[in-house]
Amino acid sequence: MERGLFITFEGADGCGKTTQLELLAQYLKDYEVLKTREPGAKGLGEKIREILLNYDAQVSDRAESFLFLADRAQHIDMVVNPAVQAGKIVLCDRHTDSTVAYQGYGRGIDLDRIRKLNDIAVNGRKPDLTLLFDIDVETSMARVGNHKDRMESAGINFFNKVRQGYLEIAKNEPQRVKIIDASKSIEEIHKNVVILVEELLQTAHL
Ligand code: TYD
Repeated sequence: MERGLFITFEGADGCGKTTQLELLAQYLKDYEVLKTREPGAKGLGEKIREILLNYDAQVSDRAESFLFLADRAQHIDMVVNPAVQAGKIVLCDRHTDSTVAYQGYGRGIDLDRIRKLNDIAVNGRKPDLTLLFDIDVETSMARVGNHKDRMESAGINFFNKVRQGYLEIAKNEPQRVKIIDASKSIEEIHKNVVILVEELLQTAHL
């Protein structure tokens, strides 16, 4: 029987989701919490992450997608599922919606195909809640600054498509995906996160 929870954090680079994940983990200190991320959970994931973010020759869009999905399959099997089954609250920095937003909407890979391939990677696991940190592209790019990794170097046009993609995902799945205004202060955003997570905790039986 399922006992834990799986909460994912999504948004463009520089949206502040990683800070919010840390703050939520502290807020949930009385629970058993596992903090993790995609790409790049420990082990194989770290090796895939290294290729995805630092490989300096061209990577084809389809190859890029498969690498993210390979990382996800490994992460679900080795990290997420065991933790949820053990009753933990798993806080995951990026997951499926990143692939749909970045490789689907951003790179232009057919959305249907991306979703079908992703189904193989997640093998039935779905987030109980997804927090989407929405912010305008100029602000998020300014936060990222000049030291960009391979993905962050994709340009403003790409990130506009990613943002629109995320908003469309949220519109299609309003029950699961909650949009958070990431232009507010860190404290205000944290309060919004807590309200949403408390709602979830009331329906979950941890
Ligand atoms: P990371 O340094 O983890 O960025 P952030 O702190 O913004 O999460 O790098 C992950 C990068 O990979 C980020 O640019 C988003 C991208 N990405 C995809 O394009 N597709 C995916 O499926 C995932 C998980 C991430």
